[in-house]
Amino acid sequence: MYKISQRRYLGNKNSILDFIEEIIQKEIGDFDSFCDIFSGTGVVGAYFNDKDTKIISNDLLYQNFISLNAFLNSDTYYVKKITKLIEKFNATTASKENYFSTNFGGRYFSNDVAKKIGYIRQEIKKLFVSDSINLKEKHILLTSLNYSIDRIANTVGHYDAYITKEIKAQKFVMKMLDIDSEKNAKNEVHNRDANMLIRDIECDILYMDPPYNSRQYCDAYHLLENLSLWQKPKVFGVAKKFDRSKIKSEYSLKSATESFDDLVVNAKCKYMLLSYNNMAKRGNERSNAKISDEDIIKSMSKRGEVKVFEKSYKAFTTGKNVCKNNKERIFFVKVIRSVVN
Ligand SMILES: C[S@@+](CC[C@H](N)C(=O)[O-])C[C@H]1O[C@@H](n2cnc3c(N)ncnc32)[C@H](O)[C@@H]1O
Repeated sequence: MYKISQRRYLGNKNSILDFIEEIIQKEIGDFDSFCDIFSGTGVVGAYFNDKDTKIISNDLLYQNFISLNAFLNSDTYYVKKITKLIEKFNATTASKENYFSTNFGGRYFSNDVAKKIGYIRQEIKKLFVSDSINLKEKHILLTSLNYSIDRIANTVGHYDAYITKEIKAQKFVMKMLDIDSEKNAKNEVHNRDANMLIRDIECDILYMDPPYNSRQYCDAYHLLENLSLWQKPKVFGVAKKFDRSKIKSEYSLKSATESFDDLVVNAKCKYMLLSYNNMAKRGNERSNAKISDEDIIKSMSKRGEVKVFEKSYKAFTTGKNVCKNNKERIFFVKVIRSVVN
């Protein structure tokens, strides 16, 4: 079975979950609701998930909305039915070319595996359109497909490029997901821009983990987004990306500081936590942080006193610029002031 944490995802917070928990225990104690507004894989919300807590998850990317629904919403599904479908998909050999194989075969995957992935994606669509599976079951199957692809793709973990060496034999296997349904009763999942969603929700704890540099998640994971949406758009360039102009994040652009301020000012919560890397002006241009520490503190101070917690970690780097002594930081505020501008 796949656990929610078994996905390769840039900036995932698997390794600092205990650090986040420590801060919450020390500064907050009990709480009833937790919003993970830039959820990505959803591991942070999932960590605090229990049957009496409402976890609100959200991400701009549709592929994440799918997996957040699969793991964290409370809709019903039939395990036996899905297990049988997964067995059937695993036993399939697809011989015909399809949208996925023509665009991605021989690049990110062997041609045979790409044909199989495209075939399975089309089958999942057919099963849903013919009412043979419900929306939750569709989300579970698509998540299993995405997690399985992630394990074999001929990449370094993201899809900005593929490895141009000969593709090794790939064993593509789908698995059921490890879903703890009993804990999901109160949860909500959204697929919105965080700055829009913030105006419509209330929570005890708001956890913010936005992208911190100019690297757009829709670029790094375009292939999984394309497969998840399955609108079969035209793709271009060596990496075979589709037009992502509508899903670019403000947090990876110059406007990041302004967007962050708007988010903080409009939040209706009791506590705020922000994860933000300290790579400002230290790595290469693309890895430089978009929001300065001064601006983070200026915005968050509008709502209360800011405390900063730090933990050392190993930095992600794509090239020669290995930054030593990187620290994962959490900026914390107990909200005492309502919206001021
Ligand atoms: C650093 S990652 C979050 C990682 C996550 N905490 C985890 O452990 O997997 C940032 C996420 O924010 C999402 N994102 C970027 N801009 C957004 C926006 N304006 N609204 C909602 N989500 C956004 C990205 O798609 C990405 O998944």
